[in-house]
Amino acid sequence: MDTLRRNQYLQAMGVDVWVSRRPAADVDRAGAAAAVEAVAPGAPGVSGGSAARAPAARSAVETAPAVTVAAASAVPSPTEARATADVPTITTWESLRSEVLACTKCPLHGSRTQGVFGVGNRESQWLVVGEAPGAEEDRRGEPFVGRAGHLLDAMLKAIGLSRGRNVYIANVLKSRPPGNRDPKPEEVAACLPYLMRQIELLRPRVMLAVGRIAAQNLLATDAPLGRLRGKVHHFGELNTPLIVTYHPAYLLRTPSDKRKAWEDLKFARSVFQGLNATL
Ligand code: URA
Repeated sequence: MDTLRRNQYLQAMGVDVWVSRRPAADVDRAGAAAAVEAVAPGAPGVSGGSAARAPAARSAVETAPAVTVAAASAVPSPTEARATADVPTITTWESLRSEVLACTKCPLHGSRTQGVFGVGNRESQWLVVGEAPGAEEDRRGEPFVGRAGHLLDAMLKAIGLSRGRNVYIANVLKSRPPGNRDPKPEEVAACLPYLMRQIELLRPRVMLAVGRIAAQNLLATDAPLGRLRGKVHHFGELNTPLIVTYHPAYLLRTPSDKRKAWEDLKFARSVFQGLNATL
């Protein structure tokens, strides 16, 4: 990528170009090398991992030392969530959407303005997963439309994605937790099956989990976000590559980490390009 374009992307994300401590080309090379390692089976450093809590939901191939998954976790695995919430097999986007909007499976339905289903092209090869709607999303019925959403759009644009065209965006929770508190395990257990069904319908080629809550719930792990970044995980029966990065709301509070987020995005893009190269 030429310097001008890269700088425009960084600017859109709010990354100060002058803070770089090493030539950007090095950053590009590091990301590309890691991506190649990640997608090449048997490459040095690649290890098959398994989640202690949900082997069916997560088969991890990681480029860095395997994530140690705590045996006791407060995070319900997708498998557990599926069993708990008993969502019937719903075969169309529209029926699933109606089900979500009418859902009363957890107490959050009493405080939300509306359910927030998801947005984007339903033929997309990319799926971005966030945590839960905030105040603005609750009002408008669309994920990531507040301040964090604007940053997410800029981040996605930097790798050629836009919600109107080639990415689908959804959350773990479809209802806003009051005061934007963290989702409770029972809320995740009730709601996660909807996301699982969205993933089955979309069949994305690559997934990007933004933030700890999305990453931990999709991967059924308690591992901290810092240990989940920079690796290719694999999600579900289709072994869909899943990359983890920071939540844009966190980046608004901690702009100094935007550069690391940019590395994650380039990493995700190289993984996607690597998949297409092997077609
Ligand atoms: N944060 C999220 O995780 N999702 C949204 O939709 C909005 C903010």
